Amino acid sequence: MTEYRTGLGWDNHRLAPGRLLILAGIVIPHETGFEAHSDGDILLHAVTDALLGAVALGDIGMHFPDTDPQWRGASSDRFVQHALGLVRERGFELSNVDTTVILQRPKLKDYREQIRANLAALVGLPNDRVNVKFKTAEKVGPVGQELSAEAQAIVTILRHTDK
Ligand code: C5P
Ligand code: MG
Repeated sequence: MTEYRTGLGWDNHRLAPGRLLILAGIVIPHETGFEAHSDGDILLHAVTDALLGAVALGDIGMHFPDTDPQWRGASSDRFVQHALGLVRERGFELSNVDTTVILQRPKLKDYREQIRANLAALVGLPNDRVNVKFKTAEKVGPVGQELSAEAQAIVTILRHTDK
């Protein structure tokens, strides 16, 4: 039998001048970027929470408290790798990752393949099992007014059992 599980993740960060706008490790040239304790990579934070969710292990703040100096400026790759390790320890493999980034500006579509390839390499999947979608917020609310950006992720994991 195959046991399937799904996990959901969401993150947001404020945008501020002089910070990096970084999505799945790809730096996007722009006049603002994420204000955060770590590198602020909302896409990797959402994927981390989705992986933790699939194995019912709480959320990113439980595993990497933002009060802990060891995570200051941390590359978010480490959060994903840690969560993936917890998934694999329980005998699961990752089947696919789907994501959405909600950002008013700049347009991200020229970076789609780079972001997708980086995310796929990070989670150890072929590109055709990883998807990255982009949406504006139609100029409405804090995301639409370019004060912040959001990311959503959903993952499916599976493991084979005897039963
Ligand atoms: O939000 P909206 O539906 O207007 O977005 C239309 C398309 O623009 C999206 O499907 C996406 O391909 C692209 N987009 C983008 N970068 C953004 C927001 C949207 O490339 N920051
Ligand atoms: Mg639309």
